[in-house]
Amino acid sequence: MNALVGATRKLKGVDVAITNLTKIYQTRDGNDLRALDPVSIAITPGQFVAIVGPSGCGKSTLLSLVAGISPRTSGTILIDGQEVRRPHPKVGVVFQTDLLLYWRTVIDNILLPIEIKGWDRTRYTARADDLLAQVGLGGFAQKFPSELSGGMRQRVAICRALVQEPGLLLMDEPFGALDALTREQMISDLQTMWLSVKNTVMFITHSIEEAVFLADRVLVMSPRPGRIDIDLHIQIERPRSWKSRLESKFVEYMTQIHEIFEARGVLTNS
Ligand SMILES: Nc1ncnc2c1ncn2[C@@H]1O[C@H](COP(=O)(O)OP(=O)(O)O)[C@@H](O)[C@H]1O
Ligand SMILES: [Mg+2]
Repeated sequence: MNALVGATRKLKGVDVAITNLTKIYQTRDGNDLRALDPVSIAITPGQFVAIVGPSGCGKSTLLSLVAGISPRTSGTILIDGQEVRRPHPKVGVVFQTDLLLYWRTVIDNILLPIEIKGWDRTRYTARADDLLAQVGLGGFAQKFPSELSGGMRQRVAICRALVQEPGLLLMDEPFGALDALTREQMISDLQTMWLSVKNTVMFITHSIEEAVFLADRVLVMSPRPGRIDIDLHIQIERPRSWKSRLESKFVEYMTQIHEIFEARGVLTNS
């Protein structure tokens, strides 16, 4: 399978500074729901940060605040020193479901963010074609999403996030809905793509293994209201392969995270 290799030109990742960020939702019965306790995270340009935490702990909330698609309750989010108040032009987002528009072709889905921004579509068409070729979907530009498999659709969603050359790529459990083998391939391709681009990535997952495999840093969140319990620097050489998973360091990081979840009652030993 073709990798996401070289899918983007060399970019410089952005710098992300999140300080004392909180989010309280108003539920329909009028109560407050504290989704995020104060969260502070500083990410340097080009860092790959994975965020792992139990279901409902506020991971998607955190990402939607950084994406500028949901208002925060308090705190600040700076991208390259600029306060996030709306979707930032340097940010690309990939969600768990591909969210492709079924009535638009593959190429029209990829170029959607360009149209929304009012940028020159023709200037980005060649780049979109290039991205498609890089992810092994060269002949698929005129197909509709219903003609593609789940893995192919998610590749299109990644192309859509990359077409605008994002300095920050936000991914919310992007491979969660894929079968195990496709997921394995996508994880490996994502690493290759990121190594060629070195943009800043915030990658949300509930898979401890996926987090340790991909990230420079793994932030482990507590159950709701989400806090950052631990910030683990993963010092395993890249490129990482399936064999890296057998290294003692890999196993140690996995164990450390499992133990945190056990201590929090997220995982229990029966
Ligand atoms: N729009 C909303 N209104 C009210 N509560 C919400 C809303 N979105 C999320 N929540 C609640 O906030 C908490 C965190 O949700 P979420 O960020 O989706 O968690 P995660 O992605 O870690 O599973 C959950 O209890 C969820 O039910
Ligand atoms: Mg979520």
